[in-house]
Order: sequence, then C-alpha cells, then structure tokens
Amino acid sequence: QAADDYQQMERATQFFSYQLRKHKKAPEVIEYLKGRGLSGEIVKQFQIGYAPDGWDDLLKSLAKDQRSRDQLVDLKLVNRNDNGRYYDFFRDRIMFPIRDRRGRVVGFGGRIISGDGPKYLNSPETRIFHKGRELYGFYEVKQAHRSIEQVVIVEGYMDVVALAQAGIDFAVASLGTATTTEQLQMLFRATRQVTCCYDGDRAGRDAAWRALENALPLLTDGLQLNFLFLPDGEDPDSLVRQEGAEAFKARLGEAQSFTQYFFAHLTETLDLATDSGRAMLLSQAKPLIEKVASDYYREELLQELARLLRREVSQVAGQMKAKAAPTA
Ligand code: UTP
Ligand code: MN
Ligand code: MN
Ligand code: MN
Ligand code: MN
Repeated sequence: QAADDYQQMERATQFFSYQLRKHKKAPEVIEYLKGRGLSGEIVKQFQIGYAPDGWDDLLKSLAKDQRSRDQLVDLKLVNRNDNGRYYDFFRDRIMFPIRDRRGRVVGFGGRIISGDGPKYLNSPETRIFHKGRELYGFYEVKQAHRSIEQVVIVEGYMDVVALAQAGIDFAVASLGTATTTEQLQMLFRATRQVTCCYDGDRAGRDAAWRALENALPLLTDGLQLNFLFLPDGEDPDSLVRQEGAEAFKARLGEAQSFTQYFFAHLTETLDLATDSGRAMLLSQAKPLIEKVASDYYREELLQELARLLRREVSQVAGQMKAKAAPTA
C-alpha cells in the first residue's frame, strides 16, 4: 500500500513536470519562472512542474481504474464533489514536490499563476504526508552536502529555490506552519547550526519567536540557533535577488544569537530602568530558561539576565531555584 502511494506521487511529479514542458500554457509558465530568476537547471533540480488548468487532466492520466482513482483521492491529488464527480485538486498552479528525508515525494505545494484563490495551496495531510514532520528542500540539502555545516529555515518554497539558485544550497522551508519541535529536531540531527530567517513582516517575526520557544527543549551544548531578521517587506527570495548571495551570506554571518534574540524580544516593551520592568523580565524569562536543555545555554542566559537585572548571577540563580522547587 505505502510503496504504491509513493509510486503514485512520483507519477504525479512526472506528470506535472511533463506538463511544464508540453502543455500549451507551458511557455507562459516558463516565462513566469524566468521572471522570478529561476534557470531551467534549478527547475529540473527541484522538479518544479505545472498543474494544467483543466478539471481532470491528472485524473485522466493517472486513474487507470476505480482503485487508482480512490488512491488519488486518498493522496489528496483528486477531490470528489457532492455530486460524486471527481476533479483535480491542483489546477493551473506551479507545482513544488515536497520530498521526505529519503527523497520520496509525499506532498505538493502549488502556487497560483493568475486568477483568484489562495496564493499557495498545499497538499492536505494524508497517510504519507504529515506537515509538521517534513521540511521542503531538506532532501536536496542533504544531497548537496556530505556534511552539513549549517541550515537556514525560511518560510516559502520560492525562498528555498531562489536561495539555491543563488548558490545558497542549504535552505529548507517549514511548509507554512510555524517551525515545529520535530522539524528542528530533524535539522539538529543533521547539523549543529540552524538560522531562522523568516519574512520581514509581522507573521515572520511571530514565527521566529515560536521557533525559539519550540527549540528550548532541544538546544543542547554545542548546537547553535541563530535568527536573521530581514528588512520590512523583504523575504529571502526578494533579498537574495536584490543584493546577491555574498550580501545575503554576510547577513547570515551577522545573525542574532539565540541569547541575543531571547532578550531583545523579551525586553522590547519593557523599561529596565524601573523595578517593575525588571520584575516583569524576571517573571517572563524564568519559565523559558527552565526549559532550556543545555547547561551551557542556561548559564549564558542566566548571566545575561543578571546583567540586565543588575544583580549577581548567584542571586538570580537562587531566585530561579527558590521558585522552581516545591515548597516544603
Ligand atoms: P508568503 O505569503 O510569504 O509567500 O508565504 P510569498 O513570498 O508572498 O510568495 P511568492 O514569493 O509571491 O511566491 C510563504 C509560504 O507560506 C505558505 C507557503 O508555504 C509559502 O511558500 N503559504 C502562503 C501557504 O501555505 N498558503 C498561502 O496562501 C500563502
Ligand atoms: Mn554548498
Ligand atoms: Mn510572508
Ligand atoms: Mn514570503
Ligand atoms: Mn516571496
């Protein structure tokens, strides 16, 4: 069953890829991709394709019998409406195949080219696709590097592909959701340094803080989690095309450390010159610091906290313990 699911997803990938070469709208789609700076080579590497604008092109091509049609429904490539009619889930979209760790296609992201509807449509969860457990581009990063020095997490498919096009071939995307603990765990098994680089907007900044929270229990000694914040309105794709790979790498080199971002965020709205501001910082930082897995990072956070509170480290550490320990 499962092996067959992967085969069917592979067939769909080939179908979309073929359509990008042969469909009557292909030249228009290729123009669009070129306009976004992508070469034919990178399109091939990520096996980007095109879902035609008809209602049942994929269905007709892949559903050989009742069984394979039901399977396409299970894989969410085909929908069934209330009248019992079957139709393609992705229509008139640029298709990004999402591969799992082992390179098997488990889902798709589809970008709209024209008309209305959500800009990106993603495969819903299926028996082989669990969003929070996959990372777009991770397989490709592993293919490109025997030993992975660092990974950058971005929001979108286009960010991963545009960075790879620019030669920054170590980016992955967390599929529209906040980066989960599971995704961070996958990455930290493969590399020691991860940089979160989300869009320069409210959603991107919120995603960064959620990623930090999700990382607290994973961050062991020797691992590094950094945060790169982009100028307002930019994302990695727009920025790397605007200023080039070297400038983007320079930004990565100057990303905020975990500890820097931790306090920058917590103190953003606090006045540390006041007793109440400092008390607020302590009460907000404490439960978070207690979740940190690494002695090294807990110590570093504690030192910075003490500095901001204008206290001795031993005093702050004592306060943490006093409140953490059950009262006798
Ligand atoms: P963005 O909204 O930042 O995409 O979504 P974008 O940068 O504007 O898109 P382009 O550059 O014009 O192509 C980033 C990611 O969030 C998810 C997708 O994974 C997308 O790649 N997303 C976004 C959705 O799932 N659905 C949406 O409607 C929008
Ligand atoms: Mn490389
Ligand atoms: Mn965005
Ligand atoms: Mn974006
Ligand atoms: Mn974008």
